[in-house]
Amino acid sequence: MYCVRKINEDIIYVGASDRRISMFENAFPVPSGVAYNSYIILDEKTVLLDTVDSSVEKQFMENVEHALQGRKLDYLVVNHMEPDHCGTLQAVIEKYPHMKVIGNTKTITMIKQFFDFEIDSRAIVVKENDVISTGKHELNFIMAPMVHWPETMVTYDSTDKILFSADAFGTFGALNGNIFDDETDFQNTWLDEARRYYTNIVGKYGAQVQRLLKKAEELEIDVIAPLHGPIIRSNIKFCIDKYNTWSKYESEVKSVMIAYASIYGGTENAVNILAYKLGEMGINNITIHDVSRIHVSQILSDAFKYSNLVFASPTYNNGIFHDMEGLLLDLKAHNLSNKTVAVIENGSWAPVAGKLIKANLETMKNINILDENITVKSTVKASQAEDFDKLALAIANSINNK
Ligand code: FEO
Repeated sequence: MYCVRKINEDIIYVGASDRRISMFENAFPVPSGVAYNSYIILDEKTVLLDTVDSSVEKQFMENVEHALQGRKLDYLVVNHMEPDHCGTLQAVIEKYPHMKVIGNTKTITMIKQFFDFEIDSRAIVVKENDVISTGKHELNFIMAPMVHWPETMVTYDSTDKILFSADAFGTFGALNGNIFDDETDFQNTWLDEARRYYTNIVGKYGAQVQRLLKKAEELEIDVIAPLHGPIIRSNIKFCIDKYNTWSKYESEVKSVMIAYASIYGGTENAVNILAYKLGEMGINNITIHDVSRIHVSQILSDAFKYSNLVFASPTYNNGIFHDMEGLLLDLKAHNLSNKTVAVIENGSWAPVAGKLIKANLETMKNINILDENITVKSTVKASQAEDFDKLALAIANSINNK
């Protein structure tokens, strides 16, 4: 049976959540599932904004049929062509064959790449700032290339002041009945997954997100309706501020995230010694991640969040321990910038991990690598206590701007 909620008098949420999925994009664990949002406007013309992943097709199609109340579907706006949103495009076209599809030139190219149905005769191609009136509603199309794909655009309903924001402002996590941010303890329940979603999905494209935010500044926005996660109507400034911080690669927390690999515990011991000393120096909210156990998407998210990072790794096969090397590649791929970093290496006979980690970090933008670093040979010795004091002090001074 249909399962929908009203956004307002003539806009209806017709998306659905998948709680069986384990890996979004086959890359990111989603223990709380994921929501694929879609919206219908019931105006003189009827409009569907984006479709959903094929995993929730049955629910979605029932929702669309119910929301339309027997009317035909006039327009489908395709804001984003990634299959988590266009997975049911063909099914919608087959059910509503007279519907026009609104997208930009890149959208239409991608539709032809992903599907074999005929699109040109039903396509309405829009460009920056084009407006389509559906009766009462005026839909303004704003290009948002690389937030998250090159064809991505957002749609601003200037009548109701709703920004249909595509992937922007999305989060991981299924919607549990409460589809609006103010029906949840949003800042405590959703922020961490919003950050993990942002950093992993669009974190690489900070400059492009900045361009979209500049365009959004010109709009009066009462509601942000993203393609994943809660619809935002009470935390708009909070969310835009977060997007500003994240897309400028600015840190949110002045503290330390330590990411370490450890085979037999020697490097883990080193990390704990350092963290305890930092705690004694008054550094709060320290986070430690074992790269062998914590998914790289979570560590990337915290790397964006924290001002100071420590990487600690054994030397393995004359290189960096593989999970640590994978993390460093991922950080680089997502343009991690503007951090103060310290390195701890371990090696029982030929330690080289520290040198190699630094070489990786030097390829990233505005990474300040502290001179103080530590080499452990198998296990930490009491004679190294002073080295840990110096490293902890250098990190604490950096956090305290000394
Ligand atoms: Fe939610 Fe880029 O797709």
